[in-house]
Amino acid sequence: MTALKLVEGYMPVQMLIEMGGLALLFIWSFYLLDKKMGIKVNKLAQATGLFLFSIIYFRFRIYPPIPFSVQAIYATMTLIGIFMWVSSTETSWQDFRQPLIAVVDAKTPTTQIIRAVSVVLLPFLVGFLGWNNMKPSIDEPIELRTVHPAPPASTKVHGKTFVLQTASNPYRVDDDGKYSDMVQKKYIDGNPWDEKAPPYMQYVREGGQIFFQNCHFCHGDNLNGRGMFAFAFNPIPANFTDAGTIAQLQETFVFWRVSKGGIGLPREGFPWASVMPPWEQHLTIDEIWKVILFEYWHTGYYPRTWD
Ligand code: HEC
Repeated sequence: MTALKLVEGYMPVQMLIEMGGLALLFIWSFYLLDKKMGIKVNKLAQATGLFLFSIIYFRFRIYPPIPFSVQAIYATMTLIGIFMWVSSTETSWQDFRQPLIAVVDAKTPTTQIIRAVSVVLLPFLVGFLGWNNMKPSIDEPIELRTVHPAPPASTKVHGKTFVLQTASNPYRVDDDGKYSDMVQKKYIDGNPWDEKAPPYMQYVREGGQIFFQNCHFCHGDNLNGRGMFAFAFNPIPANFTDAGTIAQLQETFVFWRVSKGGIGLPREGFPWASVMPPWEQHLTIDEIWKVILFEYWHTGYYPRTWD
């Protein structure tokens, strides 16, 4: 996970190089098998293998994970690419079609069996998929709740409107008081107790005090979601040391979540109501930004950026 996270920012380029490279290797190894060892793998089998590989790649390798709809788009593009490849020369196209045509013609007993089975099974398969898709689910909704629902475009806290896309944490500042993405990296080993610490570290300390006065009962003194009340609740309090919580979120998203709490979640956040309190009722705007600053500093995660 850590290794994958290091390259997060380069993902599109990395994907092109890595996937393209692996695909070429794949095709090349079939070429070598044929030329050096005389083992001919049928083009249809090669294409199927390549397609399965790409699906597995999109599903498990890309980080942060992409939603199914995007995976489907990528897979379709890959499929088009594979078709262009197998149909690029007459021989390879013939090779690709050969097993399909053999099954349709059914001149041998084996192909006859395959054809008979597919003619009977295919309609059933399609019917089953359709039915499976439509049938209402009666299982207990284990993870139906959307953990990170779409945030609103803006949120109003203490009468002040924050546009989530443009707002930023006023305490994430370098020594000159200017907003800085790099300051956390710079002071990640800093000592918040040092009286002469830079402004950023002082804010982190104040955020820590707010955390231990308000949040650790649920989110735990290690920020791992194991506070003393944690197990009384369902859903359990977020574990900030887990890469799936604040590490996945923009800082303004967290600001919105902390201000509005469980009660402020949109409908997808249910059916189980969260006990996360709406902190705007107890903390000032500044205190909320500071406690968020502390959570990122302590866990060593960086907020996600909009791009
Ligand atoms: C009464 C227990 C409780 C307290 C106290 C509490 N929280 Fe939470 N918090 C939760 C629960 C439960 C969740 C998970 C459900 C949810 O997302 O609403 C949560 C979720 C969160 C999330 C969302 C994380 C995510 O991945 O979406 C943030 C951020 C958060 N809490 C910050 C804080 C801060 C900051 C404080 C202190 C000012 C605090 N919490 C105090 C119970 C609590």
